[in-house]
Amino acid sequence: MKIGMIGAGAVALAIAKQCLANGHEVVLSNRSGRTKAIDDISGPGSGLTLGSIQEAARQEIVFLSVPWLQVGAALSQIDDWEGRTLVDTTNPFTQIEPTLVLADLGEESASEIVAQLAPSAKVVKAFNSIYISRFEEGAKRPGGTRVLFVSGDHAEPKDTIAKLIETFGFVAVDLGGLKVGGRLQQPGGPLAGRDFLVA
Ligand SMILES: NC(=O)c1ccc[n+]([C@@H]2O[C@H](COP(=O)([O-])OP(=O)(O)OC[C@H]3O[C@@H](n4cnc5c(N)ncnc54)[C@H](OP(=O)(O)O)[C@@H]3O)[C@@H](O)[C@H]2O)c1
Repeated sequence: MKIGMIGAGAVALAIAKQCLANGHEVVLSNRSGRTKAIDDISGPGSGLTLGSIQEAARQEIVFLSVPWLQVGAALSQIDDWEGRTLVDTTNPFTQIEPTLVLADLGEESASEIVAQLAPSAKVVKAFNSIYISRFEEGAKRPGGTRVLFVSGDHAEPKDTIAKLIETFGFVAVDLGGLKVGGRLQQPGGPLAGRDFLVA
């Protein structure tokens, strides 16, 4: 598949490495251009290119991996998603240091807000509830296989992302739609940051 990434930080690069290892092509995008971390995984034949946010957003599947306070700015650059899949990996923190501060989203889940900012995108919430250092350790642990959650209101893209997760070796667990499932896996919900294994 052709996969785009809006954001090229820790989360995007970790997912990009898995995508490349599984034969997918990846278009990364950020604000500041090439970094050493990007250079380390790119090169002729790697399947990875650095493009604009619009180029990344044109791919079949697009990951959104920017800080919460940048979600609006990043998504404002795309007028219409034309039904493409947008995987929301973000977590709604308004501050990271010195302490984590969660945004007050009222009754909405974070991914419902992302969906409102991404007209006609089919939003799937995934990869947000695992510490990225654990994701990078890999799926297999003593005692079992790590779980990644998926939530979304569209069955087909959610199934596609679940299958992608399984090609990475993890177990995908479907939590339902963005309203309920999204809240279960976002910070403040009972599944956020937990390291579940299937025996
Ligand atoms: N770290 C974790 O363990 C973890 C796990 C799961 C989910 N998350 C969530 O995933 C998201 C990304 O986290 P991260 O750790 O990867 O952050 P990060 O390492 O700080 O990377 C953020 C990336 O977003 C890019 N960016 C920022 N504003 C942008 C904009 N307006 N348009 C395009 N790109 C923009 C940055 O590019 P520039 O450098 O060019 O600004 C950078 O490449 C966050 O919402 C976080 O809460 C984090």
